[in-house]
Amino acid sequence: MTEVEKIRAPIDAQMIEFEQRFRASMKSKTPLLDRITHYIVKRKGKQMRPMFVFLSAQLCGRIGDSTFTAASLIELLHTATLVHDDVVDDANLRRGFFSINALWKNKIAVLVGDYLLSRGLLMSVERNEFELLRIVSGAVREMSEGELLQMEKTRKLNITEAVYYEIIRQKTASLISACCESGAHSAGADEDTRKRLRTFGEYVGMAFQIKDDLFDYTSGGEIGKPTGIDIKEKKMTLPLIYTLEHASGADRNRMVNTVKHHNKNKRRVRELIDMVVAGGGIAYAAEKMEYYREAAVKILYSFEQTEARDALERLVNYTINRKK
Ligand code: IPE
Ligand code: IPE
Ligand code: MG
Ligand code: MG
Repeated sequence: MTEVEKIRAPIDAQMIEFEQRFRASMKSKTPLLDRITHYIVKRKGKQMRPMFVFLSAQLCGRIGDSTFTAASLIELLHTATLVHDDVVDDANLRRGFFSINALWKNKIAVLVGDYLLSRGLLMSVERNEFELLRIVSGAVREMSEGELLQMEKTRKLNITEAVYYEIIRQKTASLISACCESGAHSAGADEDTRKRLRTFGEYVGMAFQIKDDLFDYTSGGEIGKPTGIDIKEKKMTLPLIYTLEHASGADRNRMVNTVKHHNKNKRRVRELIDMVVAGGGIAYAAEKMEYYREAAVKILYSFEQTEARDALERLVNYTINRKK
């Protein structure tokens, strides 16, 4: 069994049913939308968020109808934000294929993202899942704030480590936190349990985004989305932030100069990546990722050992060991 199969084992039947419901939740009578949503569901992602929802629910008791609604809502929102994110980041590759903006242009991608978002909201309203909406809407607000904070800092190139954590907490960890909390809520968990899972999800989400940012430096394009794109977009992430803070004045100037004025020059970007590796930026980010992983697992261990807890622990480890 692969690692993912082991993680999925306790919730395999639910994940299969989820996929059918998820596909149905996007259907549209508008031919263009139908073509695009068809394209989206054919190129599915890792579906880690639905796994967090189902396993959190199972950890707290049982998976019910509300759990399915939570999983679909969150995967719809996640998909919507990716469609929008590729417009914002000007990225032409997603999940190993062309992004929506690359195939249909930005105007259409913006509207498709809005459509997916509204389908998620409507589905939850129709099923009277107002507490779920409350949990998830908070995360969506934070994601937008996080992306905008990132943009502001990108323009000024003055990002500190503390601001970096705030950005990734908002743009990524908030949604994974919402996965775990809404899974717990769907199983009727009490306030203390919900809170523990909310914090657990936040720590996992921090590790998850540090891993994503490491991919941009360390992988050669086999992850299904562009690499080296962060510097191209003047996006400073943890490996670079750390290296800059600890570099000599001359090296720092050289690196900042690359990001500012030569961010599309392949040779200069390569040189900068080499400086980040040599400056210990990759190792430092990996250390921080490990810190968040441990913090997450520690919370998990406050629950008694069950099949669901074991699978969640595997899912946490997969978050930082994954190859895409
Ligand atoms: C990508 O998330 C966006 C980030 C928050 C880094 P995933 O890596 O979970 O994307 P898919 O759904 O598997 O493609
Ligand atoms: C994550 O941001 C996307 C959101 C949380 C909206 P990134 O821009 O870092 O993610 P990828 O690398 O494109 O998936
Ligand atoms: Mg982005
Ligand atoms: Mg992006």
